[in-house]
Amino acid sequence: MKIQDKSFVITGGCGSIGGTVACHILAKGGYVVVFDVLPVDQGTAKVKSYHPDRAFYIQVSIDNAEKLEEACAETLRIVPKGSLYGAIHAAAIAPGRKWSNKLKDSISDFARVLQINAFGTFAVNACIADAINSQYPDDGPFAPRVEEERGCIVNISSAVAHPVPARCITYGPTKTAVIGISQGMADFLGPYGIRVNTVSPAVVASSIMGPDRIPYFKSELEAGAIFPRRVSEPDEVATGIVFLLENSMMNDYELRIDGGWRGGSNWAGPKDPRSNALSLE
Ligand SMILES: NC(=O)c1ccc[n+]([C@@H]2O[C@H](COP(=O)([O-])OP(=O)(O)OC[C@H]3O[C@@H](n4cnc5c(N)ncnc54)[C@H](O)[C@@H]3O)[C@@H](O)[C@H]2O)c1
Repeated sequence: MKIQDKSFVITGGCGSIGGTVACHILAKGGYVVVFDVLPVDQGTAKVKSYHPDRAFYIQVSIDNAEKLEEACAETLRIVPKGSLYGAIHAAAIAPGRKWSNKLKDSISDFARVLQINAFGTFAVNACIADAINSQYPDDGPFAPRVEEERGCIVNISSAVAHPVPARCITYGPTKTAVIGISQGMADFLGPYGIRVNTVSPAVVASSIMGPDRIPYFKSELEAGAIFPRRVSEPDEVATGIVFLLENSMMNDYELRIDGGWRGGSNWAGPKDPRSNALSLE
């Protein structure tokens, strides 16, 4: 599959990984439409800095299915006719909270992060797939089995999806859900010629992590990764995503980009690592 002249929605495309993959796609002659929550002026300025003509911005929260559908309809109007090929779903949140011994203190965080990270993933995949298919003649009421490759969606899970490490009791399980949603979508969308893959990075020093979590994770990686024992560069994740887009045989696959890191345990030693992970939830 060639990226040249194809269009991709990038959720969270104003962020670190989404922005980097947007630049890779643009460098290969593709078009990008970024869905993010930044105000329109800020989001547009950011996305136009990637490319003045082939990058576009739509302000939309990925957990609002109705607005997401409108954003997809707008995307089909913006990009060259018939060119919408896929999505890189990089929008997510990772709430933070000071340590509490009461598990019920995490319930409200779980509701919020589940809504955005898990429900949002389902909604993005559903709306993008329908938008891609809308470019083709009506498939009719029964599942078609098309010959052409219509597209590819790459969802971003995390190395903390499985196993879920210490202090990831809300974010971690929502990233486990991302893998399940990807698998279900890959199966459902196979007959439509749409592939669905997942990338699971370890730690990238981006705004979702926040400055207080990086030192904690740096020491976790140094202690627990195989090699390299360091945080990943956004480019190392973006090139994995581009590989999944370009290789037509890649489907229903979870690509871990993690230096062999499998996370920390709650009970790793006499000093409980949970209390070291300030504001991680
Ligand atoms: N940074 C890491 O260490 C790391 C590790 C593993 C997985 N991930 C995953 O990679 C993806 C990208 O993360 P990143 O490191 O680039 O973070 P980032 O904070 O740089 O980017 C996330 C982007 O998502 C946007 N966003 C947040 N909520 C949104 C919503 N409701 N609707 C639309 N946009 C929204 C933000 O405005 C931001 O631009 C996320 O799914 C994240 O969970 C990150």
